[in-house]
Amino acid sequence: MTLDSAAVLRAYHLRTKHRHERYADGPGSLDWDAQPDPFRTWKGTRWYSLPRRTPERDIPWSALAAPRAPEPFNTDNLSAFLRLSVAITAWKEYGGNRWALRAHPSSGNLHPTETWIVAYWVEGLADGLYHYQCRDHTVEWRASALEASDQPGLWLGFTSIPWREAWKYGERAFRYCQLDMGHVLAAVAHAAALFGWRARLVDLSHEALAHCLGADRAEDYAGVEAEEAEVMVALKAGEGMEMPPLEWDEWSGLPSLLDPKPMYEWPVIEAVAAATRGPLPEEAADFPSLEGGEREGDSTLPASQVLLRRRSAQAFDGRTTLPLDVFRRVLASLLPRADSPVWRMWKAAPSVHPALLVHRVEGLEPGLYLLPRSEAGLTGLGPALRAEFEWTPADPELPLYRLVSARAERTARSVSCHQDIAAQSAFTLMFIAEFDGPLAENPAAYRHLHWEAGMLGHCATLEAEAAGWRGTGIGCFFDDAVHELLGLTDTRWQVLYHYAIGMAVDDARLLTLPAYE
Ligand SMILES: Cc1cc2nc3c(=O)[nH]c(=O)nc-3n(C[C@H](O)[C@H](O)[C@H](O)COP(=O)(O)O)c2cc1C
Repeated sequence: MTLDSAAVLRAYHLRTKHRHERYADGPGSLDWDAQPDPFRTWKGTRWYSLPRRTPERDIPWSALAAPRAPEPFNTDNLSAFLRLSVAITAWKEYGGNRWALRAHPSSGNLHPTETWIVAYWVEGLADGLYHYQCRDHTVEWRASALEASDQPGLWLGFTSIPWREAWKYGERAFRYCQLDMGHVLAAVAHAAALFGWRARLVDLSHEALAHCLGADRAEDYAGVEAEEAEVMVALKAGEGMEMPPLEWDEWSGLPSLLDPKPMYEWPVIEAVAAATRGPLPEEAADFPSLEGGEREGDSTLPASQVLLRRRSAQAFDGRTTLPLDVFRRVLASLLPRADSPVWRMWKAAPSVHPALLVHRVEGLEPGLYLLPRSEAGLTGLGPALRAEFEWTPADPELPLYRLVSARAERTARSVSCHQDIAAQSAFTLMFIAEFDGPLAENPAAYRHLHWEAGMLGHCATLEAEAAGWRGTGIGCFFDDAVHELLGLTDTRWQVLYHYAIGMAVDDARLLTLPAYE
């Protein structure tokens, strides 16, 4: 890492910490009617409607990760796959306002992530690069293939539009874009498993990725919000093209403007984006499997229903006790395992480890717990924590340790920007990342650590959802208050995200409308 990028990224992280006495810099006031358009469309190009049927798959949640024959690449399957990973899942309406919810959560429901499709031999689609336009469930033609291929290939590319988040959250927005990206990756891995497609990260340089997706075509983006290339995922169905093409024959279309009157500028976001472009993390050796196939006691709900019904709780009841088996399944989903669609795709050695504030879990004393996701996590993070922690093993199989027994609702609320959801949950996760070490090797680790935290949140929320419980991401927390709670005194470890799991209280006033049907 160059000294410059190291300095930029450290300064960014420090200045975007929320503190009890001062929140990170953001807009002084918001005009909600001036929210940037959550949907980008590409003008002056052809577009194709995807089938609008609700995807139904007869695969129970418990069998999601079991091996299955890959389904063919065609527009029906592509449509169903997008519906289950990145599309709108419902519209909500209240008091004359209407907003869309998608298969993955997003900070402030602002959805900075754009999805791109590189398609070869997808029946019903000409080979080329497409933008997925999720408001109407269409694909917009962006570039045509330079050469025909003699093999199939299907990739998803992702870009972020940081302004969508910065509009509301100011400087901290880059972090939220990256956490959202992690959720999207996990959503993609889960949905791909239902089609027997293996999701793999594609090892492309930032420049090559931006070039492939056209995000480097400054002339096309003149006068509109830029898109930051993030990552590309290959969907493998057996043999096929290894790499996506980096050159296209003919480009078409221009992107829509999302915010005609931006009121603020946050130059540190561009600076940190530039400082964190780099290669993907190295893959660790294959993770072990728990017994493959169906897991005992697991939910038998159809997996497609779990993915489509996922929602964030806006409030928890603060009363119901979480059954121990559900708690254990949620925690197990966070451990790197070869039988998890997410950790089969994200093969880097675990760098993010959950600390938990447990309030209401059957048979477990309330208190502060730690779930190191690897031996290295235990030996690395352990000594950095408060010396007085008790380290009582708290589960016969999971690497769960109780550090302190105590009621922790007030602490959870206080470190989570005073949000009740952190206290009224059954438990609240705090994702602690190894920070200085990974960043010294690769500044892009700043993005990857946030992706890992987002993926962890996503695994937890889906597992809870499958059992009739719910989760909510918490991007607003007081960073150093969490560090103080744990006894972390330097930047070797930093908290990146919180996630609360509990019994949701629904707001009956909201009207729910179908996504596209
Ligand atoms: C990175 C991230 C941070 C979030 N932070 C908060 C938060 O601090 N407080 C909160 O109540 N919800 C938070 N949320 C939940 C979003 O508000 C929610 O995902 C969004 O409104 C969309 O609703 P849905 O998840 O039901 O689709 C967060 C979500 C994400 C992905």
